[in-house]
Amino acid sequence: MKVSVVGTGYVGLVTGACLAEAGNDVVCMDVDADKIAALERGEVPIYEPGLEGLVAENVAAGRLRFTTDMADCVDHGLFQFIAVGTPPDEDGSADLRYVLDVARAIGQRMGEYRVVIDKSTVPVGTADKVRSAVAEELAGRGVDLEFDVVSNPEFLKEGAAVDDFMKPDRIILGCDNVRTGALLRELYAPFNRNHERVLTMDVRSAEMTKYASNAMLATKISFMNEVANLCERVGADVEMVRQGMGSDPRIGFAFIYPGAGYGGSCFPKDVAALERTAREHDYTARILQAVEAVNFDQKRVLERKIVARYGEDLSGKTFALWGLAFKPNTDDMREAPARALMEALWARGAVVRAYDPEAMDECRRIYGERDDLTLVEERYEALAGADALVLVTEWKPFRSPDFDHIAATLRDPVVFDGRNIYDPAILAPHGLTHVGIGRAPDE
Ligand code: UGA
Repeated sequence: MKVSVVGTGYVGLVTGACLAEAGNDVVCMDVDADKIAALERGEVPIYEPGLEGLVAENVAAGRLRFTTDMADCVDHGLFQFIAVGTPPDEDGSADLRYVLDVARAIGQRMGEYRVVIDKSTVPVGTADKVRSAVAEELAGRGVDLEFDVVSNPEFLKEGAAVDDFMKPDRIILGCDNVRTGALLRELYAPFNRNHERVLTMDVRSAEMTKYASNAMLATKISFMNEVANLCERVGADVEMVRQGMGSDPRIGFAFIYPGAGYGGSCFPKDVAALERTAREHDYTARILQAVEAVNFDQKRVLERKIVARYGEDLSGKTFALWGLAFKPNTDDMREAPARALMEALWARGAVVRAYDPEAMDECRRIYGERDDLTLVEERYEALAGADALVLVTEWKPFRSPDFDHIAATLRDPVVFDGRNIYDPAILAPHGLTHVGIGRAPDE
């Protein structure tokens, strides 16, 4: 089937590459000519496991190509995926400018029936706006062409996006008619194997499913962070509590890991946007507000623990920081807890020596050259001259380091463990003090 994807961010690129891999004829379009030129050279601008190989193979097989030409894009695909960004507005609502620009461009150029698919995360009601935008352009041209608009939200996790697309838990199709339902089912048939994964519903329910899912996951995390903060105060160990809770299948073990707060491009933006949608409908979403407030505080939990040990003024102190990305297996630092921490440490006069397996270039891009930040090329280099080690992102290579070396190198042999990846009982014999989340410090 012929597919066009507008937007070559991580959602668009993964969608395009995976649909090409399934045998479709795919064109990916972006207004960013540098990005398209890089993609044509086989360079994938984001770190996403498996993606580069998938893009290269499908380009070589002639199933995937790139363009900056919107007319080419609209001409090509029966399916027109909109996968452009929806950055948050100042008030937290999603900015639909780019989505509606694409809708208008499709309306301006389409010459036959098209299925327009909202893949970007867009507020409830957006599909109606997309439909109006296309219809207005068609009316302006004085042509009478049929088209449909579908909401098909993505559920891709950064770092596992290719796998999530290839083996989805569910494929949500928000369609207003049987025709589009059947077309989309055919497109997704290669991914709908072994058991039924397609859920067809009305457009608004599909749009809502996406926000409600992310908000629920964010709620689980903020809830657990609150439990962790309580554990510290009552002298309980959240790691025990977490396991005790998770063994109830109604609660489950997933997404109840306490830590330094959630980050990324999705949860913070989507919780804020849903909260804003609620307000627009004269409803106060109190749980969502609390989820955001708890997360705001939690991103400062490591700072508070550091201040508790070394005092408010951290000038003259150096902190080794392991992990800059908002989570492992990505180079993405959007809303990353490491940013909140570094900025807080700098404001208190401290110096940071940081290492991340993938996000170093991104960190350089965000912060540039500064005297109070040294980016090192290897994890142990971060320890040189440092007072303490702070673990912010739980990358695998950080899990079993040489604890003796850490203890011998740090001025004060303390590990602030923002993801509870270390067992205090294992660190203690190496002479390391462990300060975790939701557990009493071991001294
Ligand atoms: C999230 C959802 O998990 C995807 O299902 C969704 O498709 C995606 O947003 C999206 O809307 O596009 P992602 O932002 O890539 O995916 O990252 P997650 O793996 O969900 O992690 C989000 C944050 O929560 C990270 O900062 C992570 O460290 C934190 N987290 C996660 C915790 O603090 N505790 C946990 O138990 C789990």
